[in-house]
Amino acid sequence: MVEPDQPSTARMIDFWLGGTHHHPVDVAAARAFEQAYGPCAPVFRALRAFLGRAVRAIAATGVDGFLVFGAGVPTMGNVHEVAPDATVLYTDVDPVTIRLGQRILAGSDRAGYGFGDATDIGTVDPALLHRFVPGWGRRPVGVVFLGLAAFLDDDTLARTLDELYTAVAPGSHLAIDFDTEELAAYPQALAMMGPAFRMRPPAAFGPLLGRWQPTRDGIVPVTRWRPEGRPEEVPDAFHGAVAVRSVG
Ligand SMILES: C[S@@+](CC[C@H](N)C(=O)[O-])C[C@H]1O[C@@H](n2cnc3c(N)ncnc32)[C@H](O)[C@@H]1O
Repeated sequence: MVEPDQPSTARMIDFWLGGTHHHPVDVAAARAFEQAYGPCAPVFRALRAFLGRAVRAIAATGVDGFLVFGAGVPTMGNVHEVAPDATVLYTDVDPVTIRLGQRILAGSDRAGYGFGDATDIGTVDPALLHRFVPGWGRRPVGVVFLGLAAFLDDDTLARTLDELYTAVAPGSHLAIDFDTEELAAYPQALAMMGPAFRMRPPAAFGPLLGRWQPTRDGIVPVTRWRPEGRPEEVPDAFHGAVAVRSVG
């Protein structure tokens, strides 16, 4: 691959997770962010572990097709790796990330990668959707919406989640996380996230889900969502939930 001249959040996360799909420009940006915030690897490990528990819980309900928005790099405990019997369509808006994902998944008959703007389900290639998430709209599926809510304003996020609710079949599940206001204590780090970055108080999370009904686990710090063993000690910077489109 040509050496990229701009860092990408997706590849910085790969670096923090100990993956192999990042470049010196990403490592430099990750280190600069850590100078302003502190160690990030434990935080991203906790987030990826939440993805794993949430996806396995969804698969345990019988769901065997997942649509992933804002997917980033499809490795390091990502959806098709933690749900080995499922088919998975990863999507993102960043063309460089999409090409990287397509290279990583080339040859997989179970997971694919394509363009998808989370705010407009119509941007997902229908052929890819029907190949990797068979029965979309007719059978229960899993929608993975992680690392994304902070990049959408309240109105856009609420509308997007409502449109997804309408699009999926009853019994479908949504895995989602939200950023708390924890980063506000680190103004330099916050500035690096750009002006469109949105933190929210926990009381704001539930109403944004609209008709999606969180499981009895609620919307909680990600380390406390059905923890397995001793949770990693990380700041409560992210809350997560699995929510359901009710049957009937
Ligand atoms: C913080 S990364 C999260 C990556 C991965 N989901 C994770 O949790 O580790 C956010 C990703 O969302 C993508 N993104 C930003 N806006 C988007 C949108 N409107 N629709 C889909 N993806 C988007 C970015 O390109 C980036 O890859």
